[in-house]
Amino acid sequence: MSTRPIRVLFVCLGNICRSPTVEGVFTAFVKQQGMAGEIEIDSCGTSDWHVGSPPDARAIRAAASRGYTIAQLRARQIRISDFDECDFILAMDRDNLLELKTVCPPHYQGYMGLFLQIAPDLGRDELPDPYYGNEHAFEQVLDLAEAASEKLLALVLRRRGWGSGSPPK
Ligand code: 4NP
Repeated sequence: MSTRPIRVLFVCLGNICRSPTVEGVFTAFVKQQGMAGEIEIDSCGTSDWHVGSPPDARAIRAAASRGYTIAQLRARQIRISDFDECDFILAMDRDNLLELKTVCPPHYQGYMGLFLQIAPDLGRDELPDPYYGNEHAFEQVLDLAEAASEKLLALVLRRRGWGSGSPPK
């Protein structure tokens, strides 16, 4: 069995609001749990609209108010090599997931799905896009990311035992 870090990639549309926020929250949670060396976390967008840009100023501000630093992140677009390298590719909404499925090579061996589907108790499977919203929308992204992090870490750690393919039910 491979001992390389497990790779988790969060994907939204622009990679400036939702996915960098979730990256920041999950990175902090994993570090706090002492697992930083075991899991590599990244984010990207399905679009190339904001490539090279830092997260939206509202996302940076909201994250900073809870102690998460995401200002250093830079947006990038999904690339084919992500499918060779990642174990989990987690989309923020159904449009993102559909877009991913159009570029996903047939040999992809990892898990691909909606981020919030891993935490069914939250009662929603899409992370609402805050881009056209107000500050509350950015707080909601943080709330949901924090609420889902523990479940995601548990699922990721179970990954070690799967081998390739989908996780056990
Ligand atoms: P994100 O939000 O996908 O969570 O980064 C958006 C960012 C930019 C745009 C839409 C959503 N945009 O239309 O430029």
